[in-house]
Amino acid sequence: MNSTAQTHTATLDATTDGPLPTLVKRSRPLTRNTPTLRGRVALVIGASSGIGAATARLLARQGATVVLAARREGPLHALAREIEQRGGHALAVPTDVSDRTAIDALVARTIAACGRLDILVNDAGIGAGHSIMTADARMERMLAVNLLAPARLMQAALPHLRRQGGGSIVNIGSIAGEMGTSGLYSATTFGLRGLTDSVRREVRSDRIAVTLIEPGYIRTPLTAGRRGRMPGPEVVARAVAAVITRPRRTVVMPWYWRIPIILTQLFPGVADRYLPSARGERVRHEDTPAAEVPAETSATEAAETITEQAEEALTL
Ligand SMILES: NC(=O)c1ccc[n+]([C@@H]2O[C@H](COP(=O)([O-])OP(=O)(O)OC[C@H]3O[C@@H](n4cnc5c(N)ncnc54)[C@H](OP(=O)(O)O)[C@@H]3O)[C@@H](O)[C@H]2O)c1
Repeated sequence: MNSTAQTHTATLDATTDGPLPTLVKRSRPLTRNTPTLRGRVALVIGASSGIGAATARLLARQGATVVLAARREGPLHALAREIEQRGGHALAVPTDVSDRTAIDALVARTIAACGRLDILVNDAGIGAGHSIMTADARMERMLAVNLLAPARLMQAALPHLRRQGGGSIVNIGSIAGEMGTSGLYSATTFGLRGLTDSVRREVRSDRIAVTLIEPGYIRTPLTAGRRGRMPGPEVVARAVAAVITRPRRTVVMPWYWRIPIILTQLFPGVADRYLPSARGERVRHEDTPAAEVPAETSATEAAETITEQAEEALTL
């Protein structure tokens, strides 16, 4: 693939909550229909399904050349074909991001094929139920994929973003990173939050924006066993595209998840009583091995519980 990349100028966007750098060119203001990402190269980790695939589709539609990474070759190549057929540019690079060597090779391949790297979306993630009593091998994998991999990918990408004078990193965390539930999964998302804040401050003067997006329940293969209404992965994809052009520090989405997060911070005692991965979850899933329970279940349902409790308290 020849590089379709153009040079860009990182500018400061005074309309966001702080002078974070953005990729929007001064000469071409952002509008809903402007393909502002034309000429940019976006590396999307976890692009074989769910939020990552939806994000890759949207960034490609907005003009970016997308490099698609995940382990499963079939879905990656199918998505790359779909994007190319719609007139976009995509390159599938099957990669297991729990392997440092594979990460370095992925970034090197991106630069070799596309000539540059402007955007990194860290979306790969795995869960393991609600309890700390998770198999040791599973815990190591969760740490490797959910926390070490984003750190390593940022390390590998940053020299290229710096050399180009700016760029954008978007990490996908979870509301479980705001409310302690779901055992080590929650710990990895708390960790990703701290890491994102720290890296944002470290690279601020390099005009590199670093954003954390924390979704609640989203309809993807990760939540396949869950009943009830959930927004599709496109809502998160739209948030990713939005923060690339108008950087934010943290985005909790959909917005209503901010309510249980704030309640948890305001009333930690109530949260201790109702949030933990806890009895209700254990009772409901007592016959289900921890590794088979979607990781978001406890965080989200616990959030619903605490919201209901708060609503009851307010109406009394
Ligand atoms: N869905 C939700 O309700 C929800 C809520 C909050 C946060 N999140 C977060 O959003 C992110 C995306 O989740 P999703 O809902 O879209 O789930 P998903 O459809 O299961 O996507 C997970 C992605 O991660 C990739 N992945 C897993 N292990 C990998 C590895 N070792 N190397 C490379 N890629 C790997 C998977 O690809 P391969 O299997 O092909 O490797 C897949 O593309 C995750 O970080 C998740 O924690 C999801």
